[in-house]
Amino acid sequence: MKYKSQKVAYWFFALSMLLLTLQITYGFIMGFARIGFDNLHEFIPFNTARAVHTNLLVVWLLSGFMGAAYYIIPEEAQRELVNVKLAYVQLISLALVGVAAIIGFHFNIWEGRKFLEIPRPLDYLVVVNVLLFLGLILTTLFKGKRQTTTALVLSMGLLFAALLYLPGMLPFDSQVMDSFFRWWVVHLWVEGVWELIMGGILSFLLIKLTGVDREVIEKWLYVIVGLTFLSGVLGTGHHYYYIGVNKIWIIVGGIFSALEPLAFLAMALFAVNMYRKGEKKHPNKLALYWTLGAAIVSFVGAGLLGFAHTLPQTNLYTHGTLVTAMHGHLAFWGAYGMIVIAIISYSLPNMTGRKLYESSIGRAAFWCANIGMVGMTVAFGVAGVAQVYLERKFKMDFMAVQNEISIHFVVLILCATLFTLGIAFYIVDFYKHGLPTDEALEEGDL
Ligand code: HEM
Ligand code: HEM
Ligand SMILES: [Fe+2]
Repeated sequence: MKYKSQKVAYWFFALSMLLLTLQITYGFIMGFARIGFDNLHEFIPFNTARAVHTNLLVVWLLSGFMGAAYYIIPEEAQRELVNVKLAYVQLISLALVGVAAIIGFHFNIWEGRKFLEIPRPLDYLVVVNVLLFLGLILTTLFKGKRQTTTALVLSMGLLFAALLYLPGMLPFDSQVMDSFFRWWVVHLWVEGVWELIMGGILSFLLIKLTGVDREVIEKWLYVIVGLTFLSGVLGTGHHYYYIGVNKIWIIVGGIFSALEPLAFLAMALFAVNMYRKGEKKHPNKLALYWTLGAAIVSFVGAGLLGFAHTLPQTNLYTHGTLVTAMHGHLAFWGAYGMIVIAIISYSLPNMTGRKLYESSIGRAAFWCANIGMVGMTVAFGVAGVAQVYLERKFKMDFMAVQNEISIHFVVLILCATLFTLGIAFYIVDFYKHGLPTDEALEEGDL
């Protein structure tokens, strides 16, 4: 049984794909600027492009998570969404706030706090928007027939993500204090509560796609939540090594952040094991590809490449270099980009009634995007390691080093082109499914 109000999800997913396209555009602007084609400099200098690129990333992922919640919560709670009209109001206001922020960045209306560049007054609108979203999701869940572990973990992730936005809004005169609390948002999101969102979506998808008992799948989910909190909270210390706070963080951050890959390892093992155990052969292979892909690539991007620079002895050299960008790309893509695409791939045929499971364009999208992103990661990695040696070991001038490593950005652009081709294929496939219909949702799925 499906619920008509799940249709709202489609529009959040469409917004998500639109913003992803824009994010990629700004990525290319930076890539070309890095190899000397900085022709847009007058209008879009590198720092503006960077802020737009990363903020668009956050907004398309949030829009994807919200779409996921609007799709999953009614189905798990077994009732329609409490108010569909308000969900559309929330969608439109999310798009407006996002666009206002991005336009503002082009007129230098932003704060120089990486990832939290949105000016504080606009932050209040973000808060109102998210409160509306949470209100709709949580009332639907608690008025529903059942409150499953999957739905609770997903909702708790979303609720905590909203609460953790607040410390980032506190005003401080001290750079150290500002930095200290900025990480409560940036770190505790991606290495804490967003993992719960990912775990919730992963669990929903595995229940649907593998047919393994909910009890078995949700037991794993507890393990993942446990490992996440055990390591991720004190793991925040890996951003506190040399920012001017107590030195105890060097030990605490080093030890706990080194444990963080365990949660991602558990997710990868979880997904692969459930796939092996599963007897149900769901025809939606594309959704399965993206689901298993998210679990595996996140382990590599977040777990392994995160570990690569998390010990204080290493981070002393790699901090803030392109080594960070290497890890940032594969981690964000694997964990959060791919899980959003996985839930879209699963839900789209159910919402539109067009079961394009076997499309070769869909398969090409998966491989091009992933091979392209792995290539980009390698390009950033090679550039980053070269940067660390030249700048930090051999004390070469910062700009001279940037000049030396610009060749790696040619490789980056080539790989990014393959990635973009994959995303273009994906969007064509998305478009081919057509619009969601009530009939398709009434029909239900496998
Ligand atoms: C496909 C085209 C893309 C290109 C050409 C591109 C390029 C870039 C460049 C040049 C930077 C700035 C690095 C620097 O500081 O010099 C950057 C930053 C960043 N990009 Fe991309 N990007 C692309 C797509 C993506 C995607 C799809 C994601 C996420 C899934 C992503 C996530 C990020 C993140 C998180 C940062 C900040 C990294 C840091 O904190 O150091 N990018 N990107
Ligand atoms: C999906 C999960 C993850 C995502 C999306 C992610 C993304 C990022 C991004 C974007 C940055 C740059 C932040 C900034 O400078 O403002 C960063 C920094 C960092 N990440 Fe992750 N990360 C994840 C998981 C991990 C894990 C599990 C570890 C450790 C095992 C880790 C270790 C680090 C370290 C040490 C830094 C600081 C780099 C520096 O000093 O410049 N990350 N991460
Ligand atoms: Fe972190």
